[in-house]
Parts: sequence; structure tokens; C-alpha cells
Amino acid sequence: MADPVPVIRKLEHALADDDFAWSMLLVGEDQADKLATLTADLRGPFSATGDGKRITSGFSYWGIAPTIAWANATNDPFYLVMKVGTESFLRHWRKLLPKVQNGGFHLVSLGIGTGVKDRTILGDMRRNNPDMYYIPVDMSSEMLRMGTLEPVRGARFPVSQVLPVQLDFSIEDNMDELGQMLARLVGDDPILFTLTGNTLANFENDEELLDTLTRALRPQDRLLLEVASTTRLDQETADAAADEYHQTRAFAEFVTSALRYNTDLKISNELVRFVGEVEDDDALLVKILWRNDTGEEIRMELPDHTEVVLPVGDTIRLYTTRKYSTARLKRLTEACKLTPIEAIQSQFRYARRANPFGLELLLLAPEAAGEATHTLADDIWSV
Ligand SMILES: C[S@@+](CC[C@H](N)C(=O)[O-])C[C@H]1O[C@@H](n2cnc3c(N)ncnc32)[C@H](O)[C@@H]1O
Repeated sequence: MADPVPVIRKLEHALADDDFAWSMLLVGEDQADKLATLTADLRGPFSATGDGKRITSGFSYWGIAPTIAWANATNDPFYLVMKVGTESFLRHWRKLLPKVQNGGFHLVSLGIGTGVKDRTILGDMRRNNPDMYYIPVDMSSEMLRMGTLEPVRGARFPVSQVLPVQLDFSIEDNMDELGQMLARLVGDDPILFTLTGNTLANFENDEELLDTLTRALRPQDRLLLEVASTTRLDQETADAAADEYHQTRAFAEFVTSALRYNTDLKISNELVRFVGEVEDDDALLVKILWRNDTGEEIRMELPDHTEVVLPVGDTIRLYTTRKYSTARLKRLTEACKLTPIEAIQSQFRYARRANPFGLELLLLAPEAAGEATHTLADDIWSV
């Protein structure tokens, strides 16, 4: 008797001529465990400073309502920094492209978002490598479905070369498994991993995250890292950084959507605080938190139908973000044994007054990639 044909191979043919909007998704993790983690995080201790109950990165984008809210926020013309960032990404990426154009790179996008940047990257990379794979990795299946439409429908990247993976990439075991699966999939071909849109800054322990991601990099692989930057580190500038996020209604909708979606808390935007501080003398940290300033205790129902009491003054951290100094980026990349092989810095020029904020796009190689990169790294970090 002939061996049965694996279902995945049959599926590709079965879907090829069907114009119903099917999409394929590889789920790497038990989603019930994720809900249990979110529930436990919301049961944290009392804190007046946003360091007890919290929604950690990934969970802010998890589910259909937060996904739609994120897409709306990125399209809001009043969210100026996002707009300027998306436009400048295109120019900056093209300057780095020659470094990953040859050699048959595949793309693993860590955190797909709306897929707009991946569309640009894929369009450029595929010209040199038509057989490349595109593997977007995200905690949110809804974000994966929405984000892959951009490159697939918008830029005609072949759907048969796309493998969306739903996975929390901040967990070490997940990154180890992903790395092994990718190596079996692409063999020795190099992979370009991308972490764009200042996603690194959303993690409370950014060094731990970068270290976790670096576990999947082989010597031939590269990491494209995009972060928000600052040339000034003082309280006034930290307040300005916090203020930047305060300006758009669509961002406020996004930042509260995970709490609205997963609990029964009635959220008034008046109770959402944007707090800026200088962190470790080398970055600006912005915490966005909900604070019970109603003068009365509030009871909030969690996804497992238990209740948690929010005393007056208690907070829930909704979002964490940062602006990095060059010193902090140097410290982070050195701690994770990553060497910059190209770096593009830009300052924002949309404001009338001189602005300390900008964006940094870094192409990084793992230490094992070789010595040649070191002299360049010295130049990059000495600016
Ligand atoms: C700030 S957005 C950036 C989107 C896009 N890369 C860009 O440059 O515009 C962060 C993305 O990372 C995903 N994400 C955040 N934390 C994650 C985690 N721990 N595991 C997997 N995906 C995560 C979010 O769902 C979202 O799609």
C-alpha cells in the first residue's frame, strides 16, 4: 500500500484554487496557559507606581479587540511619531539592504504588527531570492492574520512561502524550539530576524528579552533591531517622552483595550497616567498606567471569574516603553554578545523646536559571526 500523503502537502493543493479567505497558522503554545498568565499578572500586589498588577508586552496586543485598536492607532495621523517612524523606516532599511541581499536570506519577523514594514522588507529581499520563506512570529493570531495580508495581498508575496507562527517569543524554551524548527526548515541558509517598531522597549527586562532572542541566532544569521532613541536624559525630556503617547485618542483606546477585553473594569481615560522617568542613567522609561483615583475601592472581575480588589491609589501597568541612548544600546548589545555591522540614526524633524528624539536601525551579528565586524562596531558606538 502506498504511504499516505502528509496532510500539509495535500492542504496546499486543496487551498490553492479556493478564493475563501483561508489562512494557515502554526500554534506553538497552549493559549489557555497564556490566559492563566495574564490572570495571574492582574492579581499582583498593591502598587502606587505601576509595579504590581500589570499587562505585560504581547498581552497588550493579544485578541481581536487589541489588534484592531493597534491598527487604528498606527493609522491615526495624530500619532505623529508612528507616522514619521514608518516613513523613515523605508529610507533607512534600503541603506542596510545590501548587507542582507545576497546569500539567500529568509525572513523571521518577530512581532508582525500591521505588516507594513514586512511588506517593504519582503519586496526588496525577494527580488534576489524568489524562493525565500517569510515566517512572522507573534503572540496574537489575529495580528498574524491581519499583518500577513499586507505582503501577501498587497505585495503579492506567495502565500505558499509564508508560515505564520503564534508564539510568545519572550520565553526561552519557545525561542529554543523555534530556533531548532527553523534550522530544520531552512538548513544552513541564513535568516534575517527583525524586531522593529521599538518592540524591545515594551519589555520590562529588555536585556533579558534580547538575550532570549539571540539564542536562536546562528553565526550566519542577522538581527535587524529598530528602537526609539533620545539624545537627552533628564526629567524634562522624560516628561516629553511620556507626553508623546498622551497626544492621540487612538493610542489611549489601544493601551486600555486589553484591560477592557479581559476584565469587566469600566475604564475612564481620566484615570490613565503617562509617567516618564530616567532609567539607569541611560534610557528614558515611560510607564502607562491605570490608577484608581476614584476615591473608592473597586472590584474587578478576572477572566477566571474571580474578583480582585483595587484599593484607592492602586495601579495596573498597561504598557511599558522607552527611548534609548547610544550608551544603553551599546551596553545591551555587548551584554548579549551582538555586534553592530551597520547602524542608521535619525532625529525627528517634524517639530518646530529642536527635538532630542529619533530612531535607530541596527543590523546586528552574533559574536560567533567573526572578527571582521569589530572595527565597524567601534566606529558605530563612538558616534
Ligand atoms: C510595537 S508592535 C511592532 C510591530 C511591527 N514590527 C512594526 O515595526 O511596526 C509589537 C508587535 O510584537 C508583538 N509582540 C509583543 N510582545 C510579544 C511577545 N512576547 N511574543 C510574541 N509577539 C509579541 C505584538 O503582538 C505586535 O504585533
